[in-house]
Amino acid sequence: MSPSAVVPSPLVGALPSQAGEIEVDLADAAHCRAVDARLAQAIARGARSLDEALAVTLGADPRLVAQRMRALGWAPPAAMRPATGDAAQPWDPELHARDFEWYFTPECAAGLAARAGGPGRSVLCLGTPTVAFALLEAPGLRRVTLVDRNPLALRRHHHHAAALEAWHDDLAAARVPAGAYDAAVLDAPWYPDALRHWLGVAAAAVRPGGTVLLALLPALHRPSAPAERAAVLAHARALGRVAIDPGRLRYATPRFEHEALATAGLSVPAAWRRADLLELTVERPPAPPVGPVAPAREPAWVRFVIGPQVIHLDPHAPTEPGDALAPIDGRADFRYGSISTRDPRRATIGVWTSRSRVARVRRPELVAALLERLAAAGQRRALDHAPELGALPADERARLRRALHALLGPALD
Ligand SMILES: C[S@@+](CC[C@H](N)C(=O)[O-])C[C@H]1O[C@@H](n2cnc3c(N)ncnc32)[C@H](O)[C@@H]1O
Repeated sequence: MSPSAVVPSPLVGALPSQAGEIEVDLADAAHCRAVDARLAQAIARGARSLDEALAVTLGADPRLVAQRMRALGWAPPAAMRPATGDAAQPWDPELHARDFEWYFTPECAAGLAARAGGPGRSVLCLGTPTVAFALLEAPGLRRVTLVDRNPLALRRHHHHAAALEAWHDDLAAARVPAGAYDAAVLDAPWYPDALRHWLGVAAAAVRPGGTVLLALLPALHRPSAPAERAAVLAHARALGRVAIDPGRLRYATPRFEHEALATAGLSVPAAWRRADLLELTVERPPAPPVGPVAPAREPAWVRFVIGPQVIHLDPHAPTEPGDALAPIDGRADFRYGSISTRDPRRATIGVWTSRSRVARVRRPELVAALLERLAAAGQRRALDHAPELGALPADERARLRRALHALLGPALD
């Protein structure tokens, strides 16, 4: 079948938990045609598995890729093998979707460190903790600064944390000195405001002739990705010389993504996601950004670390009558098959775990108090005599305990 003959089809053989944003992507004919064209080329070369399909579809959502494979009549059973969601998880505490924590593979982080570092050099890492720590492995650097708003990043790398100049700031509030670094490495959340702002901060922070290394979202990450990439490239070209290394950056699939895709019926490779490396040699440095430029996309949530899991809670979830924790999709197991900010269900989520379990929260103060107890004790027994639970009617109390068990899993038993 020629790529141009492929017409976006409705959700033929839709996967379980097919989410709204996939329907939106399917409705975008140009996006679908681009995915289909890449798939058709891969089929012509003899590719047959989802892993191979993901390697050629430039960051398209695996659920969309699987759907298009089926629509193209290319759905060998192996592509849809049962998912376990139990991929190796090297990070403690675990990474979280709400923190946009897609960490590079160790080889990729080391490669970026080698490119940015070197004896006597100073490097600024914006939202790139794995690169900051890889840099510290090499002797002789003059200065390594990490700006990352998540303090858990340092807990994951405690062996090196003391050697690092680390600011737990939101980048919108950080005051980064101008012209102070030889190189900057950044991996902003892949949204236009953030990419633009972070690139401006990085370019102002390096000396003239210095290098900025930026993770550029792949072209089929979402339908708007080509326009967003073009905007970043135009911005970068206004600042200096630009080179692109396509697909150079690789991410270790985080547990939250494995779990989400497992819920959607898919199993993906250990490092399926890639980005292009944009290398900018700064020739026309911008004035340092002033004031908060990139507005926070969502109001602040609170984090709890319970065992290895990270739990995000929306303290502003509206207090309403009904169970304090309820499934958002009628799913009694509280599993959630999406990581996209475009998913329409996202607005109803009040609590979200690093293993992609979510719930609607109707009494945020009560849930916060219970999570606090669990975080402090690290054991479910901590709830046995919790006064917050004792005050509830017995049936409501039992439902709440069951919901917490489903959300957090057996880890605390
Ligand atoms: C996409 S991850 C990149 C991680 C990188 N690939 C690595 O391996 O080190 C984005 C990082 O930026 C941080 N971050 C997200 N938004 C931020 C903000 N507004 N200010 C500062 N850090 C932020 C997150 O905590 C996360 O560590």
